[in-house]
Amino acid sequence: MMKPLISPSLLSADFAHLGRDLEMLNASASDLMHIDVMDGVFVPNISLGFPVLKSIKKHSKKPLDVHLMIVQPEKFIRELQEIGVKYMTVHYEACVHLHRVVQQIREAGMSPGVAINPATPISMLKDILPEIDLALVMSVNPGFGGQAFIPHALQRVKELKELRLQTGSNALIEVDGGINLHTGAQMIEAGADILVAGSAIFSAPNPSQMIQEMKNL
Ligand code: DX5
Ligand code: ZN
Repeated sequence: MMKPLISPSLLSADFAHLGRDLEMLNASASDLMHIDVMDGVFVPNISLGFPVLKSIKKHSKKPLDVHLMIVQPEKFIRELQEIGVKYMTVHYEACVHLHRVVQQIREAGMSPGVAINPATPISMLKDILPEIDLALVMSVNPGFGGQAFIPHALQRVKELKELRLQTGSNALIEVDGGINLHTGAQMIEAGADILVAGSAIFSAPNPSQMIQEMKNL
């Protein structure tokens, strides 16, 4: 089996010592940098915006994996393109014209991703799956770090892996929410390619070592 890609979620970093935490991540075995953008409308929380994202980009050696938990994400394709993010992931539940948004993200030179909430059937991704580079299965309800893993997400990842095969898609399967060494191992077994982890990494005594341990799962 291929090693999983690890995308540490910066949401659990110390925002007053962001430079220090970015240096730790730059030197670690992580593959991507997961950044959660929240608007207080699509989810009941607000995280960070473009000025912060711009500074992160300047100091990050890892490609940016941006998870937008906002309404009307298509409004900000240009901003993310200019900052230079790799993956721009929008929520299925936030886009009426999802196919158009995905096309626009690709035209802007970024890799389109689609995230799906725990209550939305995986089958809803069937027709968009061949068009995207990443499918993000939420294993918590989005909005906060440190929430408990929803076990049913394992079944959903298996279903998505099957759907990927059926549709001939190459999309990477990313999982986000309550991922630690235990749930991460289960998710890889179910078919996840990318593990996002926030609190499990940043609350570990040695975050860099935790990333290495996840990488070795
Ligand atoms: C939640 C975010 C996650 C969050 C994960 O809405 O999408 O990326 O940071 O945090 P943990 O790993 O602590 O569940
Ligand atoms: Zn996220």
